[in-house]
Amino acid sequence: SMFQEVSGLRTKEKKLAEILGIKKVIIVPGDINVDANTQMLIGKEASEYLTTIADKDFTVAITGGSTVAALKNFMSPSKSLSTLTFVAARGSLGNEMSLQANTLVSKFASKCGADFRTLYLPEKLSETAFMTMIQEPVVKEVLDFYDHIDIVIHGIGTSKEMAHRRDSSEAIIKMLDEKKAVGEAFGYYFDEAGEIIYRINTIGIQLQQVKKSPHIIAVAGGSLKAKAIQAYFKKEPAHQTILITDEGAANAILEK
Ligand code: G3H
Repeated sequence: SMFQEVSGLRTKEKKLAEILGIKKVIIVPGDINVDANTQMLIGKEASEYLTTIADKDFTVAITGGSTVAALKNFMSPSKSLSTLTFVAARGSLGNEMSLQANTLVSKFASKCGADFRTLYLPEKLSETAFMTMIQEPVVKEVLDFYDHIDIVIHGIGTSKEMAHRRDSSEAIIKMLDEKKAVGEAFGYYFDEAGEIIYRINTIGIQLQQVKKSPHIIAVAGGSLKAKAIQAYFKKEPAHQTILITDEGAANAILEK
């Protein structure tokens, strides 16, 4: 029955939250890797969740990616959303303009009647350029936001897909392979044990800053992301995280 199905999902949500060591899991029916529309269900849940926790003048850092992008279809200028400031959690990502944090913050803001801050700097920088850039006042203004973020919304990717999207060099791809990278979030690559094995020289929010934020919404689904999701939460997970995922990913993790 419908009731059994829903109560079955609720049981899985509790189990998964326990396994991952996080506050809450919401599972939508389906599997992104089977039916791409499932991503919209994740976007809808995430957007609704954001609306319930958003408070006046909250700052919301968001990463890029297609799953985070899925929230925008369900946003409207509600009382709680219109006073928000959406902050790009990072510089650009390869050449996929429509999925970049910078593009998404302006789209989210215009949907909600909210404010936004962008960070128009390349994601891949040399050490020297990086150190110089972060001293620049226009950059510093956005970076200072990262210490006082009320809500973080982020995606989790498989390392292969993310390295590919970023046009990473053969050497980097080989290194990620050798070190058995499985997952990626915020520009950090993780192995199955949750160890950070590589991080791109990026201007953006740091993992310690993410963990200081009182609310974190992670959005990632699809059976193919199961390992990446598990790896990301494996070591010292941010316990305040709410993961919004699908049955495809959830079942793959729970059945292991
Ligand atoms: O860092 C991970 C990416 O944001 C995931 O992107 O949602 O398009 O798979 P995606």
